[in-house]
Amino acid sequence: MEKGSLLYEGKAKKVYETNDENIVWIEYKDSATAFNGEKKASIDGKGRLNNEITSLLFSKLKELGIDSHFISKVSETEQLVKKVAIIPLETVVRNVSAGSFAKRLGVEEGKPLSRTIVEFYYKDDDLGDPLLTDDHIEILQLASKEEVEIIKEKALKVNSVLTEFFKELGIRLVDFKLEFGKDHSGAILLADEISPDTCRLWDIATKEKLDKDVFRRDLGSLTDAYENILARLGGQKVCT
Ligand code: C5P
Repeated sequence: MEKGSLLYEGKAKKVYETNDENIVWIEYKDSATAFNGEKKASIDGKGRLNNEITSLLFSKLKELGIDSHFISKVSETEQLVKKVAIIPLETVVRNVSAGSFAKRLGVEEGKPLSRTIVEFYYKDDDLGDPLLTDDHIEILQLASKEEVEIIKEKALKVNSVLTEFFKELGIRLVDFKLEFGKDHSGAILLADEISPDTCRLWDIATKEKLDKDVFRRDLGSLTDAYENILARLGGQKVCT
């Protein structure tokens, strides 16, 4: 497989075309951003950690019957994935009150929710990724009702599998964000990444935060936190 020209550069990743029109080459960057790009830093090793963790998690999901765009890891910071057209919905699954949910609704952070909830945000940096209702999704024609149901069902399945998996590693899966895309046949496929950048992961015993909140809230070393997650997943320590 050959790496072709740059198709798109996002905040955390670059996407290149390949010599196969249905496959793209993803490069994870060392940049860290928060609050819709207002807070920025370059953190050595972050790209490697997120590539490694995402590759392990997508492989684990596949083993457990959940398909994604992930094909293979090709280097410490790169992976090959199936090309999809990203649906402009950020799908957030929450098990425990935290982050914007806690802040917006005045619910104490750390309070388990009486049931898991799914929220959708409009993937639009200029608008600051606003929260969407089902009506908004329909009126803006971001996805059909059937597609929203498929996405919800897939997101809840990912949640059941990952909640149990992380629990065995002593980690509480508090919440996370997923993105979905459509492949060349129009099928909806789990895409983007699953990493401590996109999940809240708390140590069950110590309640220590092992995710991007370390960066957002200046709680210490982001790479130490991400290395802790990678080590528990059985990955190799990243030496920078
Ligand atoms: O900030 P908020 O509480 O809404 O985030 C919910 C979850 O979604 C968190 O795990 C956060 O890391 C993730 N998220 C993300 N990308 C965004 C917004 C949220 O990965 N643009």
